[in-house]
Amino acid sequence: MRALVMTEAGGAEHSHVLDLEPPRPGPGQIAIDVTHAGLNFVDVMARRGDGGYTAAWPHHPGKEVAGTVRALGAGVTGPAVGTPVVAATRTGGLARVAVADAALTVPVPDGVPPHVAATTPLGLATTLLLLTDAGRFAPGESVLVHSASGGIGTAVARLLPHLGGGRLLGTVGRPEKAEAARRHGYDAVHARGTDPADLAARLRAANGGRGIDLVLDPLGTAALDLDLDLLAPGGRIVLFGNAGGGVPDPLPPLPRLLGANATITGFSHNGLLTHAPAKVAAAIRRALDLLATGALDTPVTVLPDLTAVPAAHDLLAAGRAEGKYVVALH
Ligand SMILES: NC(=O)c1ccc[n+]([C@@H]2O[C@H](COP(=O)([O-])OP(=O)(O)OC[C@H]3O[C@@H](n4cnc5c(N)ncnc54)[C@H](OP(=O)(O)O)[C@@H]3O)[C@@H](O)[C@H]2O)c1
Repeated sequence: MRALVMTEAGGAEHSHVLDLEPPRPGPGQIAIDVTHAGLNFVDVMARRGDGGYTAAWPHHPGKEVAGTVRALGAGVTGPAVGTPVVAATRTGGLARVAVADAALTVPVPDGVPPHVAATTPLGLATTLLLLTDAGRFAPGESVLVHSASGGIGTAVARLLPHLGGGRLLGTVGRPEKAEAARRHGYDAVHARGTDPADLAARLRAANGGRGIDLVLDPLGTAALDLDLDLLAPGGRIVLFGNAGGGVPDPLPPLPRLLGANATITGFSHNGLLTHAPAKVAAAIRRALDLLATGALDTPVTVLPDLTAVPAAHDLLAAGRAEGKYVVALH
């Protein structure tokens, strides 16, 4: 079977499409004939060699797939071979055959195309969990998202109206990305320039002068000062990434948190896969159900085959990607 393999830390030069033996499901696992797999920034972090994103080289990237059940491992009674499913794979999703825990494999309801279903195990599930479980979003609250034009950023814009809506603000790393985020549904988007005070003033003005209730921040600690400045009393900041790589700064001193009545929460999809897989599976099901109603529109860019993935990872690595990318594997 064809699979994307990263042989060492670095760039696209170390990503190769190889012909490998298909993996077999172990106990409690399911093997899936993959038709579509989602691309995610976490694969780029592994490729860069960021600490904690790969246990060893070669690395087999890919953490979300759609396809059909190929084989059941010991102790697994369903879904039946041939059933359309999606799954959160720990590694190896960017391959024609992937293996996932049965607990993280979910049947796809009628009416959800596989290239869209492939965005649910990591992308849409994470977005739902960020807003609900970690962010405790309540209808009508204001939300600020950094990296608003990316995969998670655009998914927030698509999902928020289904959770009750609220004012949605975003930041992007380059001014030319602001329009893309607005097209996906952001009310206001500003580039993170060199003047944080000016950015804070613009974002506050865009929220009618009020503090922001929920901030979703994948930028390590780089924007944390800004987040705290903008936060409404009782507001929540969810830290869920470290896009720039490197060692994040320590969290702000306690008086700053007390004074701001701030909650800072960490979120890790990978952590939940290990410690609370049922939460991830429930979020995947909820995303699929929303998609099946036809009410949730999530545009994706479909790459024709695995050979196109390293260049797409380059776009993500350079901060030049827009929206969500999926690769076709059939
Ligand atoms: N904790 C979790 O479980 C979890 C799950 C999924 C995703 N994430 C995180 O959520 C973020 C979005 O993920 P995604 O897959 O949807 O990717 P994405 O947003 O499509 O792409 C990553 C974005 O990170 C921003 N960025 C900031 N500094 C960067 C740097 N030094 N190099 C490259 N990009 C940089 C860029 O946007 P701007 O320049 O506009 O900021 C870039 O577009 C990522 O940081 C990812 O690690 C976390």
